[in-house]
Amino acid sequence: MGSSFFIQGRQKIGGEIFVRGGKNFVLKALAASLLTEDVCLIKNVPQITDVEVMLKLLGKMGVGIEKTGKRSLKIKAEEIKNFEIDFEDARKIRASIVLSGPLLARKGKFIIPHPGGDVIGKRPIDFFLRGFEKMGVTVKRTDSKYELETKGKLKGAKIFLPKISVTGTEALVLAAVLAKGDTVIDNAAMEPEVAHLCKCLVKMGAKIRGIGTNSLKISGVTKLKGGFFKTIPDRIETGTFAMLGIMNNADLTIKNCNPGHLETLWDKLEEAGAKIEIGENTVRTIPLKKRLKGVSIQTHEYPGFATDLQPIYTLLMTQAEGVSLIHDPIFEGRLFFTDTLNRMGADIVICDPHRVVVNGPTNFLGKHIESPDIRAGITLILAAMLAKGESIIDNAEIIDRGYENIEKRLRKIGAAIERR
Ligand code: EPU
Repeated sequence: MGSSFFIQGRQKIGGEIFVRGGKNFVLKALAASLLTEDVCLIKNVPQITDVEVMLKLLGKMGVGIEKTGKRSLKIKAEEIKNFEIDFEDARKIRASIVLSGPLLARKGKFIIPHPGGDVIGKRPIDFFLRGFEKMGVTVKRTDSKYELETKGKLKGAKIFLPKISVTGTEALVLAAVLAKGDTVIDNAAMEPEVAHLCKCLVKMGAKIRGIGTNSLKISGVTKLKGGFFKTIPDRIETGTFAMLGIMNNADLTIKNCNPGHLETLWDKLEEAGAKIEIGENTVRTIPLKKRLKGVSIQTHEYPGFATDLQPIYTLLMTQAEGVSLIHDPIFEGRLFFTDTLNRMGADIVICDPHRVVVNGPTNFLGKHIESPDIRAGITLILAAMLAKGESIIDNAEIIDRGYENIEKRLRKIGAAIERR
């Protein structure tokens, strides 16, 4: 039996909250550390279960892992014993597929089940497979697994991603840096995590041009040296906490963050009437005398409005005056959680899997509910904090995948939340 969060809503929120290292960077840094036989150091590692799962996957491949501090790791992949990944753990996280790049580059072979992760849509891997085929990989697919193999070295290729894919771009970059010849990845993801990964790879000796743009040009090298990965602040945590401050009308300072990674969010929040003070590494939410107004959004790949922040923004709009349309074209399953918000008192019309209309403002009542995925899960915690009375949120573990020690950090800023 898993644990549940017990939350007493309507407490006074305020003070300071610190942002941890970005989940969607650190998981890829761990994969990248397999590209070299030398030591890689990873700093500002968040203590979340997705990192634990990735480390278990690496450990089972014979990779040396040493914890050198509370948030630092030393990785040494002198030898990689298995090219078949542990199926049970691989199915738990989407990022397991990113190991395909380094494994093909170092071992010429990789066997993986269909990767797991949040159930927010179909989440296919066809772009990865087509990209690898262009690099000379043979793909054998059975009901339960994919077998990828290359005779000799991977070869550089010209790849166009039909849709922008974060893990797709990352896996192909990680394969291309050690391939023979040049690779071009067009319509590549420009997320800060992707750009930072590329910059770290360049310091290891990789040749990548166009970093931070949608066209990456990689000239393969024969060897990479050890690396240093300083995990960038989690921009989704930053956005989550900023909206938490705003919806509670709190004076809340979010520290250790990079506000520059969230320009679209700040713009929308400002349009809705929120008052925020943006510093170099801090964001402060200022209490308001009047309500926010409803402002519509459409999610988009970076630098657009992040799909991972859509659930929290949708909740924020239930507290705003007026109507807002939330359009999330990226995944098919990211708006169904609004049904649970309706059970708590929201007035949200689900138009289709990609669109909902929020009519605000509404009051929430505490309920016994269940967390469906990381981002909808944190949204339900935030909804419970706004609600009258007690809420119980089952499946608490799913939130631990992306948010470190969430109940302790929320208690520090005034929330009444306990895990049982
Ligand atoms: N897609 C395909 N074929 C592919 C790959 C992707 O059709 O081979 C489609 C997807 O179905 C989706 C779109 O392309 O419609 C974009 O998906 P993408 O590949 O960018 O998503 P992802 O790499 O699987 C990462 C993050 C997600 C985040 C998305 C979008 C990791 C481990 N996960 O997923 O993070 O929502 O990018 O920014 O990096 C989360 O942290 O809660 C989370 C779900």
